[in-house]
Amino acid sequence: MNHIKRRLFAATALLAALAGAPALHAHLPPGTPGMALRGVMQKLGADMQAVTGAISIEDWATVAQLAPGIAKHAEPPAEEKALIIGWLGAEAGKFRGFDHQAHEAASAMGEAASRGDGTAVIAAFARVQESCLGCHQAYRKPFIEHFYGH
Ligand code: HEC
Repeated sequence: MNHIKRRLFAATALLAALAGAPALHAHLPPGTPGMALRGVMQKLGADMQAVTGAISIEDWATVAQLAPGIAKHAEPPAEEKALIIGWLGAEAGKFRGFDHQAHEAASAMGEAASRGDGTAVIAAFARVQESCLGCHQAYRKPFIEHFYGH
């Protein structure tokens, strides 16, 4: 009987530990199971896809509606931002430069779309896409290696 009680106690202790599981994350490498930036990027990817679809049918109203979501995309929480900036070190300015280009070009794309100026929309769209590509080429792989360890 005593021995059953001991097992029960052990099981209860384990359950209690599991209930406190979020604290375990503190021991895992940062970025596990996912960085908030990934969610931000997935939304950007979806918005850019939607813009591409709208451009294909010259639906400037939809482009104008989507552009602000790209220009003023969400940001990871302050803690994660600090972690990323710390990891970037001297590269932080260059990283922010790509982000700034995305904001600026997406705003220009929205303004051009509001005017119904398709040529200017497409030129701005290319600049948005170049900012995505530039940042990804420079940082995506090292980011994943550092924060996800693969
Ligand atoms: C300032 C740098 C920067 C800019 C600008 C940037 N990205 Fe990213 N992006 C990243 C990093 C870093 C990752 C890797 C994040 C990860 O895997 O957690 C990433 C990953 C992604 C992913 C993959 C997400 C996944 O599920 O693995 C998509 C999609 C994406 N970005 C879309 C975009 C689009 C579209 C733009 C332009 C509108 C853009 N990004 C601009 C840095 C940037």
